[in-house]
Amino acid sequence: MDSAKLTLDPAFEVGPVERRLFGSFVEHMGRCVYTGVYEPGHPEADADGLRRDVVELAREMGVTAVRYPGGNFVSNYEWEDGVGPAAERPTRLDLAWRQIETNAFGLGEFMTWLGAVGAEPVMAVNLGTRGVREARDLIEYTNYPGGTRWSDLRIKHGVREPYGIKVWCLGNEMDGPWQIGGKTAEEYGRLAFETAKAMRRVDPGIELVACGSSSVRMPTYGSWEATVLEHCYDQVDYISAHAYYDAVSGDRASYLASAVEMEQQIEGVIATADHVAAKLGSRKRLKVSFDEWNVWSHSLFGGENSLDWAHAPRIIEEEYDAAAAAVVGSLLITLLNHADRVGIACQAQLANVIAPIRTEPGGPAWRQTIFHPFALTAAHARGRVLRVQATAPAMATERYGEVPVLAAAATLDDGELSVFAVNRGDRPLPIEIDLRGLPRATGISHVTVADDDTSARNTEREPRRVEPRALAGAAIDGDRLTTVLPPISFNLVKGAFTEDRGPHAGGPASR
Ligand code: AHR
Repeated sequence: MDSAKLTLDPAFEVGPVERRLFGSFVEHMGRCVYTGVYEPGHPEADADGLRRDVVELAREMGVTAVRYPGGNFVSNYEWEDGVGPAAERPTRLDLAWRQIETNAFGLGEFMTWLGAVGAEPVMAVNLGTRGVREARDLIEYTNYPGGTRWSDLRIKHGVREPYGIKVWCLGNEMDGPWQIGGKTAEEYGRLAFETAKAMRRVDPGIELVACGSSSVRMPTYGSWEATVLEHCYDQVDYISAHAYYDAVSGDRASYLASAVEMEQQIEGVIATADHVAAKLGSRKRLKVSFDEWNVWSHSLFGGENSLDWAHAPRIIEEEYDAAAAAVVGSLLITLLNHADRVGIACQAQLANVIAPIRTEPGGPAWRQTIFHPFALTAAHARGRVLRVQATAPAMATERYGEVPVLAAAATLDDGELSVFAVNRGDRPLPIEIDLRGLPRATGISHVTVADDDTSARNTEREPRRVEPRALAGAAIDGDRLTTVLPPISFNLVKGAFTEDRGPHAGGPASR
């Protein structure tokens, strides 16, 4: 078989498209904040020092939720350092990334920036060097209306209305030996329970994320989640998952098939959470917060101890190629296909640090290759995710055995079908989409993100080398929509439908 077939039926769906799946991550790491989203004096900076060019790109990307302030950074962070008059804020050592943290950018600046982007916060609290008390103080500052010590301090800082932050991460990667103040699963499970309890007393309307494993490669993966959740299941709404897919360690076919591992991880974490629910006799079901995911050649990173003390250093400023765009597209497809159990997902990170947006200090901002599959998916994945029935040729991978060359997801919204498809193979892949059950198509289109040279990148000198481009050749004949997916490509195939189910239009694509 050298072609693929998808069958779509509106009667079979995964669930609604959860908008929080298009989340991102701003950590005080490298140049994500300083000279990334924030650079006073830059020609594009507004009066608050926020780079308008980056705000515009984040909006164009369709980012819906942003995790902040870390990451490993949060585990040694004192949030009080980043609020109030900028001139009074202390400069501190950030132990996570050996950075000099000026605290010029903090909670208030982040919330102002987030308002400009039009996204929702996913706020992390420090459960490394701190605990219940500081998390309680922080939520009193952000969410309590006024008349108390911390809420009045917020008002004194010029913010009369509470921020009303809904989603909170209880620490970050607490299983990691690199984490400042790392914990055993028992220690963390207890602390997460007590912190959640205190935070919910201040604001019962919040949603809480417990830390799962920082990677499937952790020796405690699986047992960590089970032990932590046995302590805090009733208090939390999500269990987190993190994963980075390495382009340089291992075989290329396994890298292109990284989404297989993401799928196994989602299913493994859900199985573990449901196992705890069964043990506890709970009918409540948790969702996964996949709050760090991306392509990152982690094996090339020398580790935290290889870094020298600096402010806004250049750390892991990965330059992504066309193949990375296909991998990122397949990861988004996997998240969509699990929209029934994945409620939040944050690509890590937003600017400069393993990021879809690159900037230069004093210079331009541009879109990396991986920006494009994210922006297309965030813009077009609307309504309901349909269950995709697919057959496709297989490719051999060292890590996952035989894997289909095709990854695909589909959404249906108000007469608009969007099919997101990745061809992982190095040959063009003809695809037939069986649209049984859908009304008559009145217009179809096909956009691809690919390059004949899969190592092509977008750089400061050539920022638009890899961009989405429309492909001719998509056709509809009766119930069959056909097109060809270029080698190693991310694709968006759209169909518009009239409401009545009459005979299908024949002939070539109308756009
Ligand atoms: O995103 C970079 C780092 O990766 C984060 O700080 C940490 O949580 C993860 O290990």
